[in-house]
Amino acid sequence: WLSPAGALLLGYLLGAIPFGMILTAMAGGGDLRSIGSGNIGATNVLRTGRKGLAAATLLLDVAKGWAAVYLTSLVFPGNELLAAAAAFLGHCYPIWLKFRGGKGVATLMGIALALYWPCALVYAVIWLGLLATLRISSMAGMTAALSTPVSAAWFGRFDLVLLFLALALLTLWKHRTNIERLIAGEEPRIGGTR
Ligand code: G3P
Repeated sequence: WLSPAGALLLGYLLGAIPFGMILTAMAGGGDLRSIGSGNIGATNVLRTGRKGLAAATLLLDVAKGWAAVYLTSLVFPGNELLAAAAAFLGHCYPIWLKFRGGKGVATLMGIALALYWPCALVYAVIWLGLLATLRISSMAGMTAALSTPVSAAWFGRFDLVLLFLALALLTLWKHRTNIERLIAGEEPRIGGTR
């Protein structure tokens, strides 16, 4: 039981690092949770006007999902799916922030990259494609997340479908206030005035 427990702990601790908050605070931008949507992800870092920090947050949040799975494959092989789930939960529900964390879009991308990169490729194309056209981060992220169980099934990786489905549904749950704003037509666009 040591390996599964180790994978869970490793995944959770990596996932729970709130890079967006740390970088924003280090740059003198204050508490990210009191800015914009209050979310700790790259989209909200962008709302502080710090593009470089937003890009760094995006990269680091992707990297921690990837690292959780990759490091587990080295140290606790066979427990990669556990580590992936734990990293996602760590990002969304970090103990350090009283379990009020991010929405999982970047971290899920990193997890997909480590588990089966073709799913991450589909993810990136959908995510960036929708971001560039719609310019609504939540919509792009949720659609990309929902692509993971579909692309895993498409590629014949049925071992990943259930995990991806669960993580995609959790992504939707974490976006519930965004969904309300989308329905009301009030979700802000990237670089928009509202
Ligand atoms: O990844 C988070 C993004 O989908 C939405 O962020 O700050 O607009 O709620 P935000």
